Amino acid sequence: MTYCEKSNQPAYPFILPNLPFGKSDFEPHLTAESFDYHHGKHHQTYVTNVNNLLQNEPSLHNLDLEKVIMASSKSSQAIFNNAAQVWNHSFFWHSIKPNGGGKPNSELLKQIEQDFGSFEDFCTSFKQAATSQFGSGWAWLVWGDNKLQVIKTSNADTPIVNGITPLLACDVWEHAYYIDYRNKRPDYVATYLEHLVNWEFASSNLNKGRARR
Ligand code: FE2
Repeated sequence: MTYCEKSNQPAYPFILPNLPFGKSDFEPHLTAESFDYHHGKHHQTYVTNVNNLLQNEPSLHNLDLEKVIMASSKSSQAIFNNAAQVWNHSFFWHSIKPNGGGKPNSELLKQIEQDFGSFEDFCTSFKQAATSQFGSGWAWLVWGDNKLQVIKTSNADTPIVNGITPLLACDVWEHAYYIDYRNKRPDYVATYLEHLVNWEFASSNLNKGRARR
């Protein structure tokens, strides 16, 4: 069972997936220019790098992207970093949607209130994780140990290598926000929660996480 069909890919060579929205759909919160770089340059570079690295690893050619991530996490930091970043970015594009933000549906909201106390406490926890991640990395809402949790990971690290189901990702690498927010990561994270986050995607991932147990 994959962690996310929308982020996974069947086998090498991997491709740059199309964005599930138009590059101007998020203006003024995120500009088309930021997607030109983030998707067209950064995400593309991870795809190019992992394919180049895998040229010399025929034993990994028949594995899907998630299995390449799992295998390389134990054997090759370079392959892992690029493969995980291909997956993380694909997951991130689905974690946001035009006119997103606000509160989730009642079922997910109920689970958030059960596990965080209130929706506002969840937002505080998510902002804390996203702004306190030192250097590059990611903030996540995940389903693990039969409860919702907010976690942060460094660089390319991804929850799926630990068997944890991601519901949402927020990219906090500088390249994710520097064009539109310069050094103001807290403003970018606040905008993510208020205007970008795709709660329908999170709900479908929660259902997958519950089914995995
Ligand atoms: Fe990124």
